[in-house]
Amino acid sequence: MRIDILTLFPQMFQSPFSCGIFQRAIDRKLVEVNLHNIRDYTHDTHHTVDDYAYGGGAGMVLKPEPIFEAVESIKSDIKEGAGGLPIILLTPQGRLFSQQMAQELSRCKHLILICGRYEGVDERVCEQLVTDEISIGDYVLGGGELAAMVVVDAVVRLLPGVLGSEASPLDDSHSSGLLEYPQYTRPPEFRGWSVPEVLLSGNHAQIAKWRREQVILRTLERRPELLDKADLCAEERQLVDRLKNHLPRELNSSHSPTPG
Ligand code: ADE
Repeated sequence: MRIDILTLFPQMFQSPFSCGIFQRAIDRKLVEVNLHNIRDYTHDTHHTVDDYAYGGGAGMVLKPEPIFEAVESIKSDIKEGAGGLPIILLTPQGRLFSQQMAQELSRCKHLILICGRYEGVDERVCEQLVTDEISIGDYVLGGGELAAMVVVDAVVRLLPGVLGSEASPLDDSHSSGLLEYPQYTRPPEFRGWSVPEVLLSGNHAQIAKWRREQVILRTLERRPELLDKADLCAEERQLVDRLKNHLPRELNSSHSPTPG
Protein backbone atom coordinates (compact mmCIF):
# COMPACT_ATOMS: atom_id res chain seq x y z
CA MET A 1 0.00 0.00 0.00
CA ARG A 2 1.14 3.52 -0.73
CA ILE A 3 -0.03 6.37 1.56
CA ASP A 4 0.53 10.03 0.71
CA ILE A 5 -0.06 12.53 3.52
CA LEU A 6 -0.48 16.26 2.94
CA THR A 7 0.34 18.32 6.00
CA LEU A 8 1.82 21.61 7.15
CA PHE A 9 3.82 19.68 9.78
CA PRO A 10 5.54 16.66 8.22
CA GLN A 11 7.94 16.52 11.18
CA MET A 12 5.05 15.49 13.47
CA PHE A 13 5.00 12.10 11.75
CA GLN A 14 8.63 11.22 12.25
CA SER A 15 8.62 9.33 15.52
CA PRO A 16 5.28 7.49 15.26
CA PHE A 17 6.29 6.10 11.88
CA SER A 18 9.74 5.03 12.98
CA CYS A 19 8.72 2.60 15.75
CA GLY A 20 7.49 -0.95 16.17
CA ILE A 21 5.29 -2.65 13.64
CA PHE A 22 5.12 0.48 11.57
CA GLN A 23 8.84 0.66 10.94
CA ARG A 24 8.85 -3.09 10.26
CA ALA A 25 6.07 -2.69 7.69
CA ILE A 26 8.04 0.07 5.96
CA ASP A 27 11.27 -1.95 6.05
CA ARG A 28 9.50 -4.96 4.55
CA LYS A 29 8.02 -2.70 1.87
CA LEU A 30 4.48 -3.63 2.88
CA VAL A 31 3.69 0.06 3.06
CA GLU A 32 5.25 3.21 1.63
CA VAL A 33 4.46 6.52 3.30
CA ASN A 34 5.19 9.82 1.55
CA LEU A 35 4.85 13.08 3.44
CA HIS A 36 4.16 16.25 1.48
CA ASN A 37 4.45 19.72 2.94
CA ILE A 38 1.47 21.72 1.63
CA ARG A 39 3.68 24.82 1.79
CA ASP A 40 5.90 23.38 -0.94
CA TYR A 41 2.99 23.77 -3.37
CA THR A 42 2.68 27.54 -2.94
CA HIS A 43 4.22 30.01 -5.40
CA ASP A 44 4.30 33.36 -3.61
CA THR A 45 7.37 34.61 -1.77
CA HIS A 46 5.74 34.13 1.66
CA HIS A 47 4.54 30.58 0.88
CA THR A 48 1.04 31.48 1.98
CA VAL A 49 -1.17 28.50 2.81
CA ASP A 50 -4.08 30.24 4.54
CA ASP A 51 -6.18 33.37 4.28
CA TYR A 52 -9.07 35.21 5.98
CA ALA A 53 -12.53 33.70 5.75
CA TYR A 54 -14.91 35.41 3.32
CA GLY A 55 -17.78 36.84 5.30
CA GLY A 56 -15.57 37.51 8.31
CA GLY A 57 -15.05 35.60 11.52
CA ALA A 58 -12.03 34.62 13.56
CA GLY A 59 -9.41 32.26 12.23
CA MET A 60 -7.77 31.48 8.97
CA VAL A 61 -8.86 29.07 6.28
CA LEU A 62 -6.52 26.81 4.30
CA LYS A 63 -6.39 27.96 0.68
CA PRO A 64 -7.48 25.56 -2.04
CA GLU A 65 -4.68 26.05 -4.61
CA PRO A 66 -1.75 24.35 -2.84
CA ILE A 67 -3.93 21.41 -1.76
CA PHE A 68 -5.30 20.83 -5.28
CA GLU A 69 -1.82 21.17 -6.71
CA ALA A 70 -0.31 18.68 -4.25
CA VAL A 71 -3.02 16.08 -4.91
CA GLU A 72 -2.76 16.54 -8.69
CA SER A 73 1.00 16.13 -8.52
CA ILE A 74 0.64 12.87 -6.53
CA LYS A 75 -2.05 11.59 -8.91
CA SER A 76 0.14 12.24 -11.93
CA ASP A 77 2.73 9.96 -10.34
CA ILE A 78 0.47 6.92 -9.90
CA LYS A 79 -1.88 4.71 -11.84
CA GLU A 80 -5.38 4.80 -10.41
CA GLY A 81 -6.65 1.28 -9.59
CA ALA A 82 -10.09 -0.07 -10.41
CA GLY A 83 -11.42 0.69 -6.91
CA GLY A 84 -10.61 4.40 -7.29
CA LEU A 85 -8.27 6.44 -5.17
CA PRO A 86 -9.58 7.56 -1.76
CA ILE A 87 -8.67 11.19 -1.06
CA ILE A 88 -9.51 11.67 2.60
CA LEU A 89 -9.74 14.90 4.55
CA LEU A 90 -9.26 14.54 8.32
CA THR A 91 -11.77 16.86 9.95
CA PRO A 92 -14.05 16.85 13.00
CA GLN A 93 -16.92 17.19 10.52
CA GLY A 94 -16.23 13.85 8.85
CA ARG A 95 -17.74 10.37 9.23
CA LEU A 96 -16.79 8.80 12.53
CA PHE A 97 -13.83 6.43 11.99
CA SER A 98 -14.44 2.77 12.81
CA GLN A 99 -12.78 -0.63 12.54
CA GLN A 100 -14.99 -1.36 9.56
CA MET A 101 -13.69 1.75 7.78
CA ALA A 102 -10.11 0.68 8.62
CA GLN A 103 -10.83 -2.72 7.05
CA GLU A 104 -12.24 -1.12 3.90
CA LEU A 105 -9.30 1.26 3.56
CA SER A 106 -6.81 -1.60 4.11
CA ARG A 107 -8.01 -3.12 0.82
CA CYS A 108 -6.95 -0.03 -1.17
CA LYS A 109 -3.66 0.11 -3.01
CA HIS A 110 -3.22 3.80 -2.41
CA LEU A 111 -4.58 6.44 -0.01
CA ILE A 112 -4.19 10.20 0.05
CA LEU A 113 -4.77 11.84 3.44
CA ILE A 114 -5.13 15.61 3.82
CA CYS A 115 -4.59 17.08 7.28
CA GLY A 116 -6.70 20.17 7.89
CA ARG A 117 -5.48 23.01 10.14
CA TYR A 118 -6.58 26.35 11.48
CA GLU A 119 -10.29 27.05 11.33
CA GLY A 120 -10.88 24.83 8.37
CA VAL A 121 -10.24 24.14 4.74
CA ASP A 122 -11.77 25.99 1.79
CA GLU A 123 -15.04 24.20 1.04
CA ARG A 124 -14.08 23.68 -2.61
CA VAL A 125 -11.48 21.17 -1.41
CA CYS A 126 -14.25 19.21 0.33
CA GLU A 127 -16.68 19.48 -2.57
CA GLN A 128 -14.42 19.05 -5.58
CA LEU A 129 -11.34 17.16 -4.47
CA VAL A 130 -11.85 14.83 -1.53
CA THR A 131 -13.79 11.59 -1.75
CA ASP A 132 -14.33 11.18 1.99
CA GLU A 133 -14.09 13.17 5.21
CA ILE A 134 -13.13 11.29 8.37
CA SER A 135 -13.30 12.30 12.04
CA ILE A 136 -11.66 10.19 14.75
CA GLY A 137 -14.01 11.38 17.48
CA ASP A 138 -16.33 14.08 18.69
CA TYR A 139 -13.64 16.47 19.89
CA VAL A 140 -11.53 19.07 18.13
CA LEU A 141 -7.80 18.58 17.69
CA GLY A 142 -5.34 21.27 16.68
CA GLY A 143 -5.25 19.71 13.23
CA GLY A 144 -5.71 16.54 11.26
CA GLU A 145 -2.17 15.20 11.83
CA LEU A 146 -2.88 13.10 14.93
CA ALA A 147 -6.10 11.89 13.32
CA ALA A 148 -4.16 10.85 10.20
CA MET A 149 -1.72 8.90 12.39
CA VAL A 150 -4.63 7.10 14.05
CA VAL A 151 -6.14 6.16 10.69
CA VAL A 152 -2.79 5.05 9.24
CA ASP A 153 -1.99 2.96 12.32
CA ALA A 154 -5.38 1.21 12.27
CA VAL A 155 -5.10 0.52 8.53
CA VAL A 156 -1.46 -0.58 8.33
CA ARG A 157 -1.75 -3.22 11.07
CA LEU A 158 -4.46 -4.88 8.96
CA LEU A 159 -2.25 -5.24 5.89
CA PRO A 160 -1.30 -8.85 5.19
CA GLY A 161 2.08 -9.71 6.72
CA VAL A 162 2.32 -6.67 9.02
CA LEU A 163 1.38 -8.44 12.25
CA GLY A 164 3.27 -11.64 13.03
CA SER A 165 1.37 -14.82 12.14
CA GLU A 166 0.74 -15.41 15.84
CA ALA A 167 -1.42 -12.28 16.17
CA SER A 168 -4.65 -12.10 14.27
CA PRO A 169 -6.45 -8.82 13.71
CA LEU A 170 -9.64 -10.90 13.56
CA ASP A 171 -9.47 -11.28 17.36
CA ASP A 172 -9.31 -7.54 17.92
CA SER A 173 -11.91 -5.66 19.84
CA HIS A 174 -14.40 -4.25 17.32
CA SER A 175 -13.40 -6.49 14.41
CA SER A 176 -16.51 -8.59 15.13
CA GLY A 177 -18.44 -5.57 16.37
CA LEU A 178 -17.86 -6.62 20.01
CA LEU A 179 -15.14 -5.97 22.59
CA GLU A 180 -12.29 -8.42 23.21
CA TYR A 181 -12.17 -11.01 26.04
CA PRO A 182 -9.73 -10.47 28.94
CA GLN A 183 -6.17 -11.75 28.49
CA TYR A 184 -3.79 -13.15 31.13
CA THR A 185 -0.18 -14.31 31.12
CA ARG A 186 2.17 -15.78 33.72
CA PRO A 187 2.34 -15.90 36.70
CA PRO A 188 -0.89 -17.82 37.43
CA GLU A 189 -1.13 -15.97 40.75
CA PHE A 190 0.07 -12.41 41.27
CA ARG A 191 -0.34 -10.64 44.63
CA GLY A 192 -3.14 -13.02 45.47
CA TRP A 193 -5.03 -12.42 42.22
CA SER A 194 -5.48 -15.63 40.24
CA VAL A 195 -5.92 -16.29 36.56
CA PRO A 196 -9.38 -17.81 35.91
CA GLU A 197 -9.16 -21.62 36.40
CA VAL A 198 -10.61 -22.43 33.01
CA LEU A 199 -7.66 -20.81 31.20
CA LEU A 200 -5.24 -23.17 32.96
CA SER A 201 -7.41 -26.24 32.28
CA GLY A 202 -6.12 -27.02 28.78
CA ASN A 203 -9.75 -27.70 27.78
CA HIS A 204 -9.97 -25.77 24.53
CA ALA A 205 -13.73 -26.09 24.13
CA GLN A 206 -14.30 -24.73 27.65
CA ILE A 207 -11.81 -21.92 27.05
CA ALA A 208 -13.53 -20.92 23.79
CA LYS A 209 -16.92 -20.95 25.56
CA TRP A 210 -15.59 -18.85 28.47
CA ARG A 211 -14.01 -16.34 26.09
CA ARG A 212 -17.20 -15.95 24.07
CA GLU A 213 -19.17 -15.35 27.29
CA GLN A 214 -16.60 -12.78 28.40
CA VAL A 215 -16.87 -10.99 25.05
CA ILE A 216 -20.61 -10.72 25.53
CA LEU A 217 -20.44 -9.78 29.21
CA ARG A 218 -17.77 -7.14 28.68
CA THR A 219 -19.61 -5.61 25.74
CA LEU A 220 -22.84 -5.58 27.73
CA GLU A 221 -21.14 -3.84 30.66
CA ARG A 222 -19.10 -1.31 28.71
CA ARG A 223 -20.67 -0.76 25.29
CA PRO A 224 -24.19 -2.24 25.38
CA GLU A 225 -25.23 -0.41 22.21
CA LEU A 226 -22.79 -2.60 20.23
CA LEU A 227 -24.84 -5.71 21.08
CA ASP A 228 -27.87 -4.37 19.20
CA LYS A 229 -26.02 -4.74 15.88
CA ALA A 230 -23.93 -7.82 16.79
CA ASP A 231 -24.17 -11.17 15.07
CA LEU A 232 -25.32 -13.39 17.98
CA CYS A 233 -26.95 -16.82 17.83
CA ALA A 234 -30.22 -17.51 19.68
CA GLU A 235 -28.34 -19.05 22.62
CA GLU A 236 -26.13 -15.97 22.92
CA ARG A 237 -29.16 -13.66 22.80
CA GLN A 238 -30.61 -15.66 25.71
CA LEU A 239 -27.31 -15.25 27.55
CA VAL A 240 -27.53 -11.48 27.01
CA ASP A 241 -31.04 -11.45 28.47
CA ARG A 242 -29.94 -13.52 31.48
CA LEU A 243 -26.91 -11.31 32.10
CA LYS A 244 -28.98 -8.14 31.79
CA ASN A 245 -31.08 -9.31 34.72
CA HIS A 246 -27.95 -9.67 36.84
CA LEU A 247 -26.30 -6.36 35.98
CA PRO A 248 -26.54 -3.36 38.30
CA ARG A 249 -29.64 -1.32 37.60
CA GLU A 250 -27.77 1.70 36.19
CA LEU A 251 -26.23 -0.47 33.48
CA ASN A 252 -29.54 -2.03 32.69
CA SER A 253 -31.62 1.09 32.43
CA SER A 254 -29.53 3.09 30.01
CA HIS A 255 -27.31 2.44 27.04
CA SER A 256 -25.07 5.35 27.87
CA PRO A 257 -24.35 5.66 31.58
CA THR A 258 -24.63 9.25 32.74
CA PRO A 259 -21.55 10.70 34.43
CA GLY A 260 -21.43 11.44 38.13
N1 ADE B 1 -9.05 17.64 13.04
C1 ADE B 1 -9.38 18.25 14.19
N2 ADE B 1 -10.12 17.47 14.98
C2 ADE B 1 -10.27 16.29 14.32
C3 ADE B 1 -10.96 15.09 14.60
N3 ADE B 1 -11.64 14.91 15.73
N4 ADE B 1 -10.90 14.11 13.68
C4 ADE B 1 -10.24 14.28 12.53
N5 ADE B 1 -9.58 15.40 12.20
C5 ADE B 1 -9.59 16.40 13.08
